[in-house]
Amino acid sequence: MTPPTQTLESGFVPLPLAPEPPAHSPVYPGQIVYFKRFKMEVDLTGLADPVLPAGCDCRAWSDDLLELHTDTLFQSFHGEIDALVFPSLGDRDGCRSLMSSIVYRAGFLASATWLLLLDGLPVGSVQGIRERRGVGAIQNLGILPGCRRQGLGALLMRQAMAGFARAGLARCGLEVTAQNERALQLYRQLGFRRVKTLYKQVAAGCFALQG
Ligand SMILES: CC(C)(COP(=O)(O)OP(=O)(O)OC[C@H]1O[C@@H](n2cnc3c(N)ncnc32)[C@H](O)[C@@H]1OP(=O)(O)O)[C@@H](O)C(=O)NCCC(=O)NCCS
Repeated sequence: MTPPTQTLESGFVPLPLAPEPPAHSPVYPGQIVYFKRFKMEVDLTGLADPVLPAGCDCRAWSDDLLELHTDTLFQSFHGEIDALVFPSLGDRDGCRSLMSSIVYRAGFLASATWLLLLDGLPVGSVQGIRERRGVGAIQNLGILPGCRRQGLGALLMRQAMAGFARAGLARCGLEVTAQNERALQLYRQLGFRRVKTLYKQVAAGCFALQG
């Protein structure tokens, strides 16, 4: 079968190629696979700043935090599904390039970009961009593996969402890989709802490396 070359947005429906998790579905180097992704959005009206629990601190973006965001992203995404969908997230240099490209990008919003510290140590990162249509876009939420299931992901999301609201944005959105159940559950819990389904095309060389 010829793989599709376009996404749903352009009218093509690539249904047969939505992949199983790579560990269970053999792929060949160079093969093109498609990850199903959901675009989700939430209304920000009336959103208040979150209350930080004891021991937590949110550090606003500044250039000297680049390395800490890089390390936090790398550790948070290492071995996760999104490091397959976006190979740069699976590599420390890739994470640094990604962070740099976000903060120098038009629309970068420092008020929605945070490093989360727990007892003085970085444990989470999130970045925010203002899209041209005036909607906030959450990027790369990550919490270190050893610090999960304590409400920190939700806290960091609320911090970014409040940052968009302070910047005058009425809505914010994100994209999430359909297989990423934990993240999906978190976003639903925060009120995000699916507005579109997309398919991200990835060349499968990186899967082959993981055996
Ligand atoms: C997704 C992620 C940020 C969640 O961070 P977290 O700190 O564990 O999330 P929280 O503790 O705030 O959990 C909030 C909610 O998310 C859902 N959730 C989080 N982890 C879950 C898990 N392992 N299983 C089921 N639901 C989960 C639950 O609904 C949870 O609420 P609850 O604890 O009241 O049940 C974290 O798992 C992570 O960094 N994953 C790797 C990077 C990634 O995939 N990021 C998302 C990119 S779109």
